[in-house]
Amino acid sequence: MANQSIVILGTGSYTPKRVLTNAELSKLVDTSDEWIFTRSGIRERRISGEGESTSDMAVFAAQAALKDAGLTPADIDLLVVATITPDLPLPATACLVQHKLGIPTNAACFDLNAACSGFIYGLDTACAMITSGRYRRALVIGSERLSPVVDWSERTTCVLFGDGAGAVVIGASDVPNIGLLGTKLGAYGEGVDLLCIPKGGSDAPATAASIAAGDHFMKMKGKEVFKLAVRAMDEAARDILEQHQLHADQINLVIPHQANLRIIEAISKYLAIPMDRFFVNVDRYGNTSAASVPIALDEARRSGRIKPGDITLLVAFGAGLTYGSALIRW
Ligand code: ACO
Repeated sequence: MANQSIVILGTGSYTPKRVLTNAELSKLVDTSDEWIFTRSGIRERRISGEGESTSDMAVFAAQAALKDAGLTPADIDLLVVATITPDLPLPATACLVQHKLGIPTNAACFDLNAACSGFIYGLDTACAMITSGRYRRALVIGSERLSPVVDWSERTTCVLFGDGAGAVVIGASDVPNIGLLGTKLGAYGEGVDLLCIPKGGSDAPATAASIAAGDHFMKMKGKEVFKLAVRAMDEAARDILEQHQLHADQINLVIPHQANLRIIEAISKYLAIPMDRFFVNVDRYGNTSAASVPIALDEARRSGRIKPGDITLLVAFGAGLTYGSALIRW
C-alpha cells in the first residue's frame, strides 16, 4: 500500500425542486427576509416532496457522482450514507440506497450519524477501509430530509434548514501524494443538549404527550451552538494545516459546512483566509446537515472553482457537537 493515494473519482448532488423563500416563511412564522438574511445569510432553501425521501435524494446524487466518475453501481463495494434523517429508524438508509441503485450484494452498506460533520466522518471511514486493501471503490453520500424534523411553528429553527443530498465516489490511485491527504475528526460530547431531538429514541420513545409537546422536532440553543461551532471549525482547520505543514495561503478553496454565513465569515477571519477563497451556497440551500459539504463540493467542482493541483480544505461541525476537517489535493 506504500505510496497509494485515495482520490475522489466523481462528485454529484441533488436538491429538491421546491424552493421555499424567506418571504414565504414570513407568512408561516413571525419573521422577515431581512432578519433571516442578516442573521444567517440564507435567502431560500429546498423542501423535498413526493419521490424525494432521504434515500431517493441519495440515489440521485450517487447516480450523478457515478456518471461523473465513469463508473456503474456494479463497481461499488462500499456504501456509506451519512444522515440524521434516515427514511426509517431501521434498517439503514444505505441498504435502501443499495437496493434502489443496484449495488452488488457483496458491498458493505451502512449509515453513519455525525450530523453535519457526517460526510467528513464518512470520507475518513471509507478512506481507511479502502487503504486496508479490503475494499476498492466507495460511494460516500450525505443525504438529509430535515423538513419533517423541523418545527415549522418555531421561528428560531425553521428558517435555517433545508433538504438535499451530495455524493462522492472514491478509490485508490498509484499517483502519490494526491487525493485525500488527511482528516481530523473530534467531538465535544458536553454539547449534546445544544442541538437534539429530545424524544423518539430508545431512551425516551415517542408518546402522544411527547408528540403533543413537539419533542420529536429538532431543538437548538442557537447562540451556544454558534460559539462552539466557530471554535470547533477553527481548531479542526488549524490542526489539519499544522499536521500537513501547510500555511493558510496554500489553501485554494475552503468548503465549510453551510450553516450560517456569519459562522463562515468568523472562520475566514480567524484563519486569515479571505472570503473569496470560501465556497458559499448557504444563501440558496440553508443548512442541509450531512448533505451540505458534498453539495458544495460538487457545485465548486462543476463551476470550475477547483483546478488540478489545487488544495481544498473541508471543514464542518454538527450536533454532538461533532467536528471534522479534510484536506484534498486534486
Ligand atoms: N425571525 C425574527 N426574529 C427571530 C427569529 C426569526 N426567525 N429567530 C429568533 N428571533 C429573535 C429572537 O427571539 C431574539 O429576540 P429577543 O432579542 O427579543 O429575545 C432575537 O431575534 C435575537 O435572537 P438570537 O438568538 O440572539 O439571534 P442570533 O443573532 O444568535 O442568531 C441564529 C440566531 C441564526 C440561530 C444563530 O445563533 C446561529 O446561527 N446559531 C448557530 C446555529 C447552527 O449553526 N445550527 C446548526 C448546527 S449543525 C447541525 O448539526 C444540524
